[in-house]
Amino acid sequence: MLKLGIIGTNIITDQMLDAAKTSGHYELTAVYSRTEERAKEFGEPYGATQFFDNLERFFDEGDFDVVYIASPNSTHYLQVRLAIENDKFIILEKPALVNPEEFSQIESLLQAHPKARLVEAARHIHTGLFHEGQKQLAKMDHVQGANFTVRKYSSRYDKVLAGEKPYPNIFT
Ligand SMILES: NC(=O)c1ccc[n+]([C@@H]2O[C@H](COP(=O)([O-])OP(=O)(O)OC[C@H]3O[C@@H](n4cnc5c(N)ncnc54)[C@H](OP(=O)(O)O)[C@@H]3O)[C@@H](O)[C@H]2O)c1
Repeated sequence: MLKLGIIGTNIITDQMLDAAKTSGHYELTAVYSRTEERAKEFGEPYGATQFFDNLERFFDEGDFDVVYIASPNSTHYLQVRLAIENDKFIILEKPALVNPEEFSQIESLLQAHPKARLVEAARHIHTGLFHEGQKQLAKMDHVQGANFTVRKYSSRYDKVLAGEKPYPNIFT
């Protein structure tokens, strides 16, 4: 059984924890949130017992092997740095990093910490639709370009219309 710590307490983390439970390989132990109150509120129903509002303490004192990071993209870099420096196995939400400079620094840090492991949670490449796209591409001997259009009513848009505070990050 792998001990799991999490950063980020929104819907995607609920989905990840449901999947982790279904796999039978993970046990949630530690939760980091910007407030300890939120860490408890989110983590207790999943059986977590350690709650932090300080990232350094989360990595120093948290009892976990794997950390799942599902925070806004702009915060990934510093969080993943700390995770690597603490030799964790890291599942980092996509997009993992926001520019090539961050990427190369993280690559170098991983080389300096060979016990740490990092995987980007690019789940889309495991979907049937992606595999179908790959098959169709293989049939084409010449590709000039492509447009893919996806539209979806965000579950968070109702909050925007209702003027809820804070304004949902996804629209900033
Ligand atoms: N793989 C997929 O299919 C998939 C789907 C959706 C999203 N994602 C990715 O998952 C990550 C999280 O997305 P999300 O939509 O859940 O993000 P979000 O709601 O904006 O933030 C996620 C969590 O991060 C913390 N947070 C929010 N604002 C913050 C800030 N300004 N500074 C530091 N922490 C902050 C909050 O937790 P606390 O209040 O507990 O601190 C929040 O619950 C992103 O990288 C996104 O691209 C992936």
